[in-house]
Formats: sequence, C-alpha cells, structure tokens
Amino acid sequence: AESGVLERVHVSDLDFTALKARVTACTACRLCEKRTQTVFGVGDEHADWMIVGEAPGENEDRLGEPFVGQAGKLLDNMLRALGLDRAHNVYIANVIKCRPPGNRDPQPDEVAQCEPFLKRQVALVQPKVIVALGRFAAKTLLKTDATISSMRGRVHTYEGVPVIVSYHPAYLLRSLPEKSKAWTDLCLAQATYRNVLD
Ligand code: URA
Repeated sequence: AESGVLERVHVSDLDFTALKARVTACTACRLCEKRTQTVFGVGDEHADWMIVGEAPGENEDRLGEPFVGQAGKLLDNMLRALGLDRAHNVYIANVIKCRPPGNRDPQPDEVAQCEPFLKRQVALVQPKVIVALGRFAAKTLLKTDATISSMRGRVHTYEGVPVIVSYHPAYLLRSLPEKSKAWTDLCLAQATYRNVLD
C-alpha cells in the first residue's frame, strides 16, 4: 500500500507503476466494496493503439485483466485481423476499473471518480489512435450522449489523440449483422493510424 505522502501526489503526476498501485488501493466509490480486484489494463505500455472498453465483467473481476470473457475473444479476433494482439502494439483498458455489481451500467459519479485513471493511462501510453468500444467509452472520452451509430465513420479527438468509435463487442455478440460495421470502423481506425504515421 502507498503511504499517505504518496496519496497526495496527483494522479496526473504518477508513472505507470504508481498509477497501478493507486488504482489497486482505490476506495473512491462504492464499487470497491464488491470487487474481487481492480482491473487496471493490459498490453504494451508504449503501444500505438489503445482500446477503451466499459468496465470489468465477472471474468475480468476474477482474473484481473480486461476483456478475458466472450467479448474479449471477439476483441482478440478483431485485433488479430489488424495484425495486433494484446502483447504487441496495443494497450487495453476500461473506463471503470472495478466491476459494477451484476454488470449494471456504471453510474455518473463512478465514471467521474475513475476517469482520471484512464486519462493518465492515455497520457502515459501516448497512443496514436484510440478505439472507443461502446456508448460508455465514447461518452466518457468525447463528453457526448450521442449514439454510437451517429458517431461512427468520423475521426474524433481525445486529448489530441484521434478516436474512432465503434460498437462494444458484447453488443456485437448479440447482434451479428453489426459485425461488418465494426469491421468498417476498424478499417477507418487503421487508415487513421497510417495517416498519423505519415
Ligand atoms: N466489457 C468491457 O467493456 N470491458 C471488459 O474488460 C470486459 C467486457
């Protein structure tokens, strides 16, 4: 555990190790009461690609890693199609670091408490492109209540980083026709990434 002195250091000044420790010890909202553990993030801390999801589910809460259930398998397949995997050139994190009980929607105050952690992760990773998966990721990063459908197909920006919005893989599992749209979104993300490299 961190000492009281360290806790007074602002989140925006923490390095990856200290940030992870801060998240692990976090009791800022009610979600700390029922979690098994926090789920910080996984992947290459200097990745060009960052994937942002919503919150840990049951499997993530148990294993301490984002996207390890069914939705995660689909995400892994999507990443593989781009020539990426969770150990190479991609960093995966959620807006919320603790599982909401019964996988309920995160509440606004929970998002507000947790958001500085994601913001710091983005600042540390310095990705060249962010893919926001689902309404919560898009809403949190882009400060909008717009639907995913209306936000797709354009390049948005978060803290100077291009953001592509797409459907959450858990939604795609329930609505297979949308999979081709998600593929279109990933192609836009890849084109955006290549543009940044040029
Ligand atoms: N859904 C998410 O948004 N994040 C996870 O880590 C798992 C499922």
